Order: sequence, then structure tokens, then C-alpha cells
Amino acid sequence: MKKTATVLALIALGTAAFAHGGVTNKDVMARMMVMGTISEQMKVIGSMAKGETDFDADVANAALIEIAAQSAQVPSMFETPATDPKSEALPVIWEQWDSFAARAQDAEAAAERLAGTVVAQSDLGPVLRQVGETCKACHSTFRE
Ligand code: HEC
Repeated sequence: MKKTATVLALIALGTAAFAHGGVTNKDVMARMMVMGTISEQMKVIGSMAKGETDFDADVANAALIEIAAQSAQVPSMFETPATDPKSEALPVIWEQWDSFAARAQDAEAAAERLAGTVVAQSDLGPVLRQVGETCKACHSTFRE
């Protein structure tokens, strides 16, 4: 029961309404798209965990590889301190750049480590939890 609640909370995190409608700054748009792609992959795993889609280990492992690849892009996507009225990025990103980059590396490392380890549907909850923690670790400091 507790486990299900955590998984659902993480899915909610991944499916939080996209805020990028109306964004005019192209750098801000580009970094939101990267986050959007990461979130799509979390949803692929999340809907399998909930049983909404059929379990497929290859698809889940591929989603993790994609999360790792997109996370690797995060520092370069945020390097320019671009702003937009719609952006939820906090200025502290550029004040504590090393820490921000380290959080991106944590997300990449977690997804990379877990990619290939999914063999059963029961692996998905722990995977969502471990990757989800790295999303939260960054968002809690660096995103509104
Ligand atoms: C290194 C920091 C970092 C990590 C790791 C990270 N994010 Fe983000 N994320 C951000 C920041 C900063 C924003 C706000 C960007 C903006 O509005 O300019 C954001 C925005 C988002 C958005 C909103 C995108 C939009 O269209 O407005 C989603 C969804 C999202 N992240 C999902 C995730 C998920 C899921 C993970 C983990 C798998 C994750 N993020 C990992 C920093 C991070």
C-alpha cells in the first residue's frame, strides 16, 4: 500500500502539467523540452508499474537509457542563464552551478546504473523511486 502510494506520487511528479506553453525564449524552451522528454520516459515506466500498459523489460530499460542520455544534456542546456516569465528555473542554478551540475550527474548515474536491471514488473517501483529521488533532489533546490 505504502509502496503504491510512493509510485503514484512519483508518477504525479513526472506528469505535472507542462508549463512550457507560451514560452518565447528559445533556450528556456529547449531545456523544458529536455525535461519533457525525461518526464515522458518516466511515464512509460510509470504506466507499466501501474499495469496500464503491458510490462516489457526492453521498453523499460530503453526508457532508462533515454533518461540517462537526456540527463547528460542537462548541464549544457542550462549553461546560458536564460529566463522567461514562464520559466520555473531558480537563479540559484547559476549561483551554485557545480551543485546543479552534480544533481544532473546523479540523475544520469542512477538511470544508467538501473538500465538493463529491469527483468520483472516488480522492479519498476524501486526504479521509479530511485530515479524519482534524483529528480526531486534537483527540483527541490533549483525549480520553483
Ligand atoms: C539537475 C537538475 C534537474 C534534474 C536532475 C531534473 N530536473 Fe526537471 N527541471 C529542472 C529545472 C531547473 C526545471 C525548470 C526549467 C524551466 O522552467 O526553465 C525543470 C522542469 C521540469 C519539468 C517541467 C517542464 C516544463 O515544460 O515546464 C518536468 C516535467 C521535469 N522537470 C521533470 C523531471 C523528471 C521526471 C526528472 C527526473 C527523471 C527531472 N526533471 C530531473 C531541473 C532538473
